Amino acid sequence: MIDNERLQKIANVDIDPEFFCSIEAKVMDPEVVRKPQEFFENARGKFGDVIEVQDNILDGVAFPTILPMNPEHPYFLVLGMEAVKTVVTDQPSFYQNYGGSMDILMGDGQIAGLNPPRHKPLRDLIMQAFNKQSVDHLESNYIVPIMQELMDKSARKETTDLVADFTCRVPTLVICEIFGFPTEQIGRFAELATDIMSASIDWDKAVRASADMGNLFEVLIEERKEKPGDDLISNMLSVELEGERLSDQEMITFCRALVPAAIETTTRALSTALGTALATPGCWSALASDPSLVVDTVEEVLRWNGPIMIIPKRTTKEVELAGVKLPKDANLWICIGHANRDPSEWDNPHQFNFRRERKPHVMFSMGAHLCIGNQLARREMANALKLMTQRFPNMALDPDGAAPDVVGVQFRSIDRVDVKTGI
Ligand code: HEM
Repeated sequence: MIDNERLQKIANVDIDPEFFCSIEAKVMDPEVVRKPQEFFENARGKFGDVIEVQDNILDGVAFPTILPMNPEHPYFLVLGMEAVKTVVTDQPSFYQNYGGSMDILMGDGQIAGLNPPRHKPLRDLIMQAFNKQSVDHLESNYIVPIMQELMDKSARKETTDLVADFTCRVPTLVICEIFGFPTEQIGRFAELATDIMSASIDWDKAVRASADMGNLFEVLIEERKEKPGDDLISNMLSVELEGERLSDQEMITFCRALVPAAIETTTRALSTALGTALATPGCWSALASDPSLVVDTVEEVLRWNGPIMIIPKRTTKEVELAGVKLPKDANLWICIGHANRDPSEWDNPHQFNFRRERKPHVMFSMGAHLCIGNQLARREMANALKLMTQRFPNMALDPDGAAPDVVGVQFRSIDRVDVKTGI
């Protein structure tokens, strides 16, 4: 269990909420950034489930290459649940597509970019350290105490922004506990993490931060070899499958890739969950009086406006998808966020309905690359909604604050959640 002194120190680490705001409006049509679902829906209605994007223009709108893919091959946008599910589950025909700049930033061989034959054995090894038992342990020892400490600080204010106070802090602090960083390094870790995540604003700084982050992990791995602890790195050092262990370099690359994978996504998911629960009439009070509604609310937030809209894949051979012939090595933007609004799957798909009957969505993808952290992210979201509504049953959006709109095309969330704490 995290001790009080560490808890108080880490709760005060500087983390800039600006890094989790939408910057896409600077490079894309701001109206599309605000309402991408309408844009994708219109495009799907006009052109179908699989659409070629030529010269970065889709339906007359500039749609820049927001993900690192191979510009020498054509680009296609994939919309609609059936086509999306086919791509994420049919691995011989569709592979990961994080080459080039992503390898420079995150290191060659990061798990999300791997394909057969290396991906499965590496993932099977890592999954031993990421099981339900670990998530249970993280919840009671770290997630809940960290959230309570942050809420204590908010409780001293009449008005506050939950993104700055809470949502941009929880995932960073939780991941620090997962790795077991010494208290004095947590500020440095948080700084490097935000530098890596702002690669689209300052590429050189991000690459330097990534190298420095690698060094932090290298030192940590050496320390854990000498003195194992109760953390992911010690776990990874001990796991073995059919005589195989992870090399130091594989561990460094995995840990570093986990930083944006875990922080950017979960911070945004928490902002959307809290902001939407407050903005939806009756939702906050219903959750406060009946916490059993929390789990379905989490799933509905993820379906309705999860933090990721698009993931990259590529074709490994010529293949037909939703009636469209795709050449080998075509770049695919898989629109998981829009598949979760498919009207053939959900009634009134654009409506947030926290009492909706639960049905599987694809916000964590599916198949061989299903998000490794999906249970952890769900647990963080559930605890945020449960603990916040219990502690602040009278919390309400601040009428003088920003509107709680979910914005962004590639990454989506609410930039600020201005509230009156009701204390
Ligand atoms: C709400 C929060 C999150 C969302 C929406 C999310 C979503 C995703 C998605 C869509 C993928 C890509 C799957 C594919 O390429 O088909 C992914 C992969 C991954 N995620 Fe998450 N994620 C979240 C949180 C986390 C957390 C908290 C962690 C770790 C602590 C994590 C670790 C990973 C890893 C390691 C992969 C690569 C898995 C592989 O390629 O085998 N994610 N995630």
